[in-house]
Amino acid sequence: MIDDLRGTVVFITGAAGGIGLGMARAFAEAGAKIAVADIDMETLGQAAAELEDAGATVLPVRLDVTDRPAWTAAAEKVAATLGPVRVLCNNAGVSTLGLKFGEITPEFWDKVIDVNLNSVFNGVNCFLGPMRAAGGGHIVNTSSMGGLMGGVPTLTPYAATKFGIVGLSEGLRAELADDGIGVSVLCPGGVRSRLWRTSRRIRGVPDTEVAPSDMSGQSALPTGMDPYQVGLRVVDAVRKNELYVITHPEFRSAVVNRHEQLMAAFDRSEAANSESSRTPAEKTSP
Ligand SMILES: NC(=O)c1ccc[n+]([C@@H]2O[C@H](COP(=O)([O-])OP(=O)(O)OC[C@H]3O[C@@H](n4cnc5c(N)ncnc54)[C@H](O)[C@@H]3O)[C@@H](O)[C@H]2O)c1
Repeated sequence: MIDDLRGTVVFITGAAGGIGLGMARAFAEAGAKIAVADIDMETLGQAAAELEDAGATVLPVRLDVTDRPAWTAAAEKVAATLGPVRVLCNNAGVSTLGLKFGEITPEFWDKVIDVNLNSVFNGVNCFLGPMRAAGGGHIVNTSSMGGLMGGVPTLTPYAATKFGIVGLSEGLRAELADDGIGVSVLCPGGVRSRLWRTSRRIRGVPDTEVAPSDMSGQSALPTGMDPYQVGLRVVDAVRKNELYVITHPEFRSAVVNRHEQLMAAFDRSEAANSESSRTPAEKTSP
């Protein structure tokens, strides 16, 4: 468990804005040194300058999270400049909200799995060895409330990746506990960010600034939670080694509803099994 974050090196993907930048602010305030990674170097440069102005030790790194060799290069650069990474935040992702399954091409599906889910594997694969060598650490994977409650129409590829991140995180946590490496999975609801805009590239829509009224079904509403508040929750979860990081309690009933459906399926299974174990005589007796 990393209680004192002073001097700890934290690596955050998708950190040019939104939740990634919110986490960077919160970790920096806790005294950590921050490597901020993103594909969008222009916005990342502005974010890094802002963090530096606030007194943070920060290193901006260009990284496409789908590019495995680039992960290795980024890790080497960070280790040489800031020191060994002890906290990894796999946060970069894209939204597919608004796309019906029939509109999704196989190529689009593959790209979304690559950016949202394979990227988490890439990050862990890259940093696990150095983290073990450093004597432990912590991994934070950004899923979504969409990774805990299914059944949202026009969100299927996104939900598949975000459910995948929850499963990956739960498995990793069980496997890495003995190595002194904690794992948390962040499952936010609506957070103020540019997700509706940064997801346009993968959807083949030009990345142009548009009026906030044109959300194009791509999340995230400007009325969402302040990403810095999300960052504070993440820092707290790392300190306490919490598995699930929930920021939007208003979604409780949706998650309960999903679990009730699962429990009802278990009830049906128990009833069916006890019926099939009855002998023919028992079945015909009144
Ligand atoms: N905003 C929300 O309401 C919300 C809710 C739940 C989960 N999330 C998740 O939070 C994470 C961060 O999203 P956000 O809302 O802060 O949006 P954001 O657009 O502000 O941040 C996403 C960042 O990821 C970067 N990115 C995209 N593809 C990349 C790639 N291939 N390599 C490296 N960087 C890449 C983008 O440039 C962007 O800076 C995502 O995983 C998203 O699914 C967001």
